[in-house]
Amino acid sequence: MKILAISCGTINGNNDAMVKEALMGAQEQGAEIEFINLNRLNLKPCTGCIACVTSLMTGGNGDCVIKDDFKWIDDKILDADGLLFAVPVFEKAAPGLFNVLQDRMCGPAHDTGTNTVAKQLAEKAGKPGPDPRKFKKKAVAYIAIGGSDWTTKVSSDLNSAAMSGMWKVIDEEVFQWSKGIMMDDAAVARCREIGVNLAKACKDIENAKYVGLPGICSICNSRNFYFDKRGMVICEVCGMEGAIACDDGKYTFTFDEALLPLAHTTLSGKIKHMDDIYQNESKLMDTQKTPEYRARRKKYADFIQSSVPPRD
Ligand SMILES: Cc1cc2nc3c(=O)[nH]c(=O)nc-3n(C[C@H](O)[C@H](O)[C@H](O)COP(=O)(O)O)c2cc1C
Repeated sequence: MKILAISCGTINGNNDAMVKEALMGAQEQGAEIEFINLNRLNLKPCTGCIACVTSLMTGGNGDCVIKDDFKWIDDKILDADGLLFAVPVFEKAAPGLFNVLQDRMCGPAHDTGTNTVAKQLAEKAGKPGPDPRKFKKKAVAYIAIGGSDWTTKVSSDLNSAAMSGMWKVIDEEVFQWSKGIMMDDAAVARCREIGVNLAKACKDIENAKYVGLPGICSICNSRNFYFDKRGMVICEVCGMEGAIACDDGKYTFTFDEALLPLAHTTLSGKIKHMDDIYQNESKLMDTQKTPEYRARRKKYADFIQSSVPPRD
């Protein structure tokens, strides 16, 4: 059982310390542990070139074409049975560094829906297709540490990362006012418990269940919702549409059960999403062949160029 912990905090700071506390708990449960501070890596942001998707859709393995440390950490992520993330809260949300990794490790090339379709295409064409480790069942837990009580978006950001690879979220805690967390025995004990819970989940991944604070969304335990223009309430993480009601001070999220197969956390929901994208891209490809599209693209490309700092 391999558990990989990834911290996005300062070197030897609060996030490093608390994720190590959780790792101690996981190790006690017999886990082989590894720790990475993301600040130590050279990770570039995803450029959106979709070379990974093109590769997957033509029987390739979907590897990213950017040359940096991503391949190194991706191998470790793909090998792991359990992942543990610790992030400092920045602007109420997960920090940019986490998002840089998320775009690379959770984009279409790592999505179970994309890879399921890619595997079928590759088998038909007799090509290698995606890395089989992309289908490995995995458990994940999150620790977020804030210096204040401005922490409202972070849980949603973290849980969204679990969606692509259909990782099972086991536990999560957002610590507010916690720049002194190492001295807070209850918080330290809670971090160790998160590590223990994650390791226990990895031992029996088929039956692993979320053991953290129950959320408002019964599908993904999210507590973050988006109120759209139609008056629908949408769970930010699993995308389920429904309504929020309040009874005796207790909030509930209700939805049409028939829509469950469309939840973004399900394989059927992912395949539907892929199909929607395919239809949309097919239309776009036809549009891109027209002279009017080419003329409009040229107009914007020629209008002004991006400024860049002087380079030696
Ligand atoms: C750019 C920046 C933005 C921050 N924004 C928030 C915030 O919105 N809410 C919050 O609770 N703490 C905020 N903080 C405090 C950090 O969450 C805190 O410094 C961090 O948890 C320390 O972790 P570390 O010791 O592992 O580096 C911010 C800090 C920085 C540097």
